[in-house]
Amino acid sequence: MCGIFAIVNDQKSQAGITVLQGLKKLEYRGYDSWGIAVDNKKLFVVKQIGKISQAKVNFPSAKTALGHTRWATHGGVSNENAHPHLDCQKKIAVVHNGIVENHQQLKNKLVAKDHHFLSQTDTEVIAHLIEENLKTKSFKQAVFTAFRQLRGSNAIAVLDSQTETVISCRYGSPLVVGLGQQEYFLASDVTPFLARTKKVVFIEDGQGVVLANKGVELYNWRTGKKEKIKTEIVDWQIEDAQKNGQPHFLIKEILEQKKTIPQTSNLNQKQTKILAEKIKKNNKLVMFACGTAYYCTLAAQYFLADKGIEAKTYGAYEFLPFASFCDQQTIALAVSQSGETADTLEAAKKAKEKGAFLVAVVNAPGSTLERLADLVFKVGAGPEIAVVSTKAFTAQLASLYLVAQAAAGRGRKGRKEIKQLAGVLNNWLKKDLQQKIIQLAKTLVDKEDIYILGKNLNYPGALEFALKIKETSYIHSEAFASGELKHGVISLIQKDTPCFVLAADDRAKTDILSSAAEVKARGGRIIGIAPFKAKEFNDLIQTPDIGQLTVFVNVIVGQLLGYYLGVGRGADPDKPRNLAKSVTVK
Ligand code: AGP
Repeated sequence: MCGIFAIVNDQKSQAGITVLQGLKKLEYRGYDSWGIAVDNKKLFVVKQIGKISQAKVNFPSAKTALGHTRWATHGGVSNENAHPHLDCQKKIAVVHNGIVENHQQLKNKLVAKDHHFLSQTDTEVIAHLIEENLKTKSFKQAVFTAFRQLRGSNAIAVLDSQTETVISCRYGSPLVVGLGQQEYFLASDVTPFLARTKKVVFIEDGQGVVLANKGVELYNWRTGKKEKIKTEIVDWQIEDAQKNGQPHFLIKEILEQKKTIPQTSNLNQKQTKILAEKIKKNNKLVMFACGTAYYCTLAAQYFLADKGIEAKTYGAYEFLPFASFCDQQTIALAVSQSGETADTLEAAKKAKEKGAFLVAVVNAPGSTLERLADLVFKVGAGPEIAVVSTKAFTAQLASLYLVAQAAAGRGRKGRKEIKQLAGVLNNWLKKDLQQKIIQLAKTLVDKEDIYILGKNLNYPGALEFALKIKETSYIHSEAFASGELKHGVISLIQKDTPCFVLAADDRAKTDILSSAAEVKARGGRIIGIAPFKAKEFNDLIQTPDIGQLTVFVNVIVGQLLGYYLGVGRGADPDKPRNLAKSVTVK
């Protein structure tokens, strides 16, 4: 959940600056504190709590540096708990992503050997372990041995100031190496070095990598044996990872959906055909994911049911008790923007273990889930920098809509419907819609509770709508299936309680409007998000009438409302408190 970035043999000899700029691009992975160690024969270290975006530091000229942005798990948010952590002799610097589950036992042994600890983190143990191992081993062996002593899913990077070398090991948390012109990068994902190279090596679990001035070597940290390097080219442009004149990544990515949703109709056609065939052969279909991605699978369940296809879906964190139902006749479909979410990876490994055919629906390139899967849908939404997922959600949902259509023999019609969304979105997702939602946000910015109702396909739509408001504005917003109202929820309604009603012109229309009437009768303020006017609505944000696909535009209203409520309440829309873009620990 943290961000790691290092450079070795910086051709501009400004390694500190290079790492600082790179960490700013990784900040969505954690923004409690940050730190950088520059190798200027002796380690020059700067560590600070808070966001890095405004940071300015006078670094000594150097060719090698290592940095970290932190999402605190062990040890509070403080300067001494910020990474990197050093050994007693201040010769090596360690940054870490993950949780060392046996850190207390290891620490007790090291304290008994007179090692002095300065922080409350699990990470600092690693620096002292390596220092202890260096008494009898080479730097590489000392790092690999220390990594073998750790329990839990971890990724580490270690800078040795004596040799200007960075060694890194992976078991669980993501790592990628960038191969530049005689300069070498190590990072948690590709965004920090995209401007300098697109030639990458994705590090697998069990691999260790040595970055030195003379080049990069890959090893197996369990056996110490050398391994062959497999390079890939990333097709992302640096511009994609910039705001393009928008004040925040979130609003930029919301508006990008005019392009990212329709373009899914040209993607994954081979994969869609393969999966549709497997579904038609009555293989069982189970899906799992977390957060927004889970709501995507929930909405997909309705698209599939509408075509007579039964699919079960689980929050990945609750899938294991049901994994035993997987077998060789099971298609296990995992949805994940990052492809690195720990609970989703665990569910995927378990389903695969049971013999299931694993399908991954991912956005970020080269992820662990992508490499684990038997069939991969890359939804092509481009870099999603804002922590709050938007364009990845709609691109993943459009991809699954196309699978349902193909399985029902309507593949071509389905692609045409998704392609036609380009025109609809270009006419609707415009300034005047944003103005309407800004006016609406102004009436809600002081509210502490907001409820969202949906029925059938608009129930997962309502869940995603509520999540967007929670994540960006910190307002308690809760979604319910409208049928749940009379079974308890309606007790929450009082005078002027804001209650959104997400609807489409479908068979659920009558029921959802009568639920709206019941809430209105108790004094609730009904805000309709629908392609039609209704007397039950006190306010209406009218959305295009595009049948089943109306859920896409209804959710986009929630994305925009979340954004403007967040801005209105002074929150950082791109980096909401307590959250991180990819949750790589359970
Ligand atoms: C969504 O806005 C959140 N960032 C979060 O719920 C996210 O969807 C969840 O953590 C799953 O992430 P993934 O898609 O990368 O697996």
